[in-house]
Amino acid sequence: MESNRRFLLFFDKDEYEKVVPESDEEKNKPFPLFQKPYDENKPLIDLIPPEKFEIGKKSFLDVINRRISRRNYTEEALNLEELSFLLWCTQGVKKTFKDKAGVLRTVPSAGAKSPFETYLIINRVEGIEPGLYRYISFSHKLLFVKSIEDAGRKIGELTYDQMFVGKGAVVFCWVAIPYRTEWRYTILAHKFIAIDLGHVSENLYLACEAINLGTVAIGYYEQKKFDALLELDGKDELVVLVAPVGKRQRSK
Ligand SMILES: Cc1cc2nc3c(=O)[nH]c(=O)nc-3n(C[C@H](O)[C@H](O)[C@H](O)COP(=O)(O)O)c2cc1C
Repeated sequence: MESNRRFLLFFDKDEYEKVVPESDEEKNKPFPLFQKPYDENKPLIDLIPPEKFEIGKKSFLDVINRRISRRNYTEEALNLEELSFLLWCTQGVKKTFKDKAGVLRTVPSAGAKSPFETYLIINRVEGIEPGLYRYISFSHKLLFVKSIEDAGRKIGELTYDQMFVGKGAVVFCWVAIPYRTEWRYTILAHKFIAIDLGHVSENLYLACEAINLGTVAIGYYEQKKFDALLELDGKDELVVLVAPVGKRQRSK
């Protein structure tokens, strides 16, 4: 247990010089890709661009004060604007550096390395077939990955039988690609990745609250089975957090 606490600590300067190895960046290795490649012949689904959002105008303090974890969702579908809003707020790309050595998003990230891809299990979004999708953040579009039979039940079981998770209209699945951050920060990367993830997850909470949706961060899931469902190798790409989103009861 105590050795795991090391992960939370940083280093004093004298120690840093001894234990932190030379980075791939210092070795002039090429920088990693900040968006996972995909077959560009495949059609992408257009999302609503942020300048066209008509939702999300609630007072900031209301959003902060009302945010809670919400685990009960109605059967209603989300609409495309709501889904676009959530994706924009959690991983929207505002700027790509000229040398492509990082991207600026709506969330902060250590060294602007943004080590995540957003996968979505879509159960109910108006106009979109249910299935597994990936957010193509550089162009703010959606890529269909595959259909998942009986997705709701599967996701419930894979989250240690938290069956409400599979009942979300959409289930966000954040996937870490650790090398994006390791390229610069080597052994320091993993704490930074965890902190980066907290920012993304909190933005989903706040974005949901701003448009009367509900969400909850889900840390309990079966790692290997979830990675396999998303066709990830579990080493260079791995699921790090899951979050169902749905319409909530109007009274709550
Ligand atoms: C990293 C993390 C993992 C969590 N995992 C779960 C989970 O697996 N299941 C669940 O029902 N809630 C989970 N939660 C939600 C917490 O239980 C919740 O945030 C906490 O009880 C405080 O309640 P509040 O969010 O309503 O303020 C998680 C929250 C975080 C930040």
